[in-house]
Amino acid sequence: MSMQIITQASGLHAFIAELRRSGRRIGFVPTMGNLHAGHHSLVALAREHADVVVASVFVNPTQFGPNEDFARYPRTPDADAAGLAAQGCDALFLPAVEDLYPYGAERTVRVSVPELPDVLKGALRPGHFDGVATVVAKLFNLVQPDIAVFGQKDYQQLLVIRRMARDLGYPIEIVGAPIVREANGLAMSSRNQYLGAEQRERAGVIHATLQWMRTRIVEPGQGVATIEAQARERLAQAGLVADYAAIRRADDLGELTVTRRDGLIALIAARLGPTQLIDNMLFDV
Ligand code: PAF
Repeated sequence: MSMQIITQASGLHAFIAELRRSGRRIGFVPTMGNLHAGHHSLVALAREHADVVVASVFVNPTQFGPNEDFARYPRTPDADAAGLAAQGCDALFLPAVEDLYPYGAERTVRVSVPELPDVLKGALRPGHFDGVATVVAKLFNLVQPDIAVFGQKDYQQLLVIRRMARDLGYPIEIVGAPIVREANGLAMSSRNQYLGAEQRERAGVIHATLQWMRTRIVEPGQGVATIEAQARERLAQAGLVADYAAIRRADDLGELTVTRRDGLIALIAARLGPTQLIDNMLFDV
């Protein structure tokens, strides 16, 4: 079938009700638009798990802080729709703010996941993950998917959504999709377009530093704090300001214990000019 574009919650209700009646398995890919090859890979992965794939494009105001880039976040709905249709997506939900926040974004019921958002990106962006959990819960209620796909690039977000879905009893399988990279290792992101060509090239140092952290931690006698400090220094040498370069437990982002060396993750958030880039790498030692 050709891709349906649905702009109102009422239209989505009818579409989803029909899918449910016919017993089809629904895969969901929520996005904020400005789609690139990384998002397209999420659609392909959803397709592997479902009969019908629904994507959404919504720049969610509640996950941006007062001084963040909500107003200038790139909005490219026509190109997004064309790209999704080319990927064989079945429906695109493009809600207005009033559809998801009928009482206004300021006065919404909030979903707040405890603990996980207190570290790393969540500590830098207070309230960010509450905004994410809130909008994803609303989208889950509307789309009623059987599975939903989220990029592993925002690993902390993936953990927050898994926990939210389990704790609130959503019967939805949360699938993490591998990170898609540029040729120099830079993780694909809508924010990469804020970078000039030379900066994009330089930002490849983030992935190289994650690989370096992984190799350093296996060397005997390497303390985590030292590796993290040296990683920040490597980023600084390439002109990036590290907000964090951390090695953590992959299941809950807790700090490492001496005995625990499997299921690890290295995570970096670094700024190039005003643009913050994030990336991570899962590994066992
Ligand atoms: O990862 C994103 O694009 C957003 O945080 C999400 C999950 C679509 C919620 O707005």
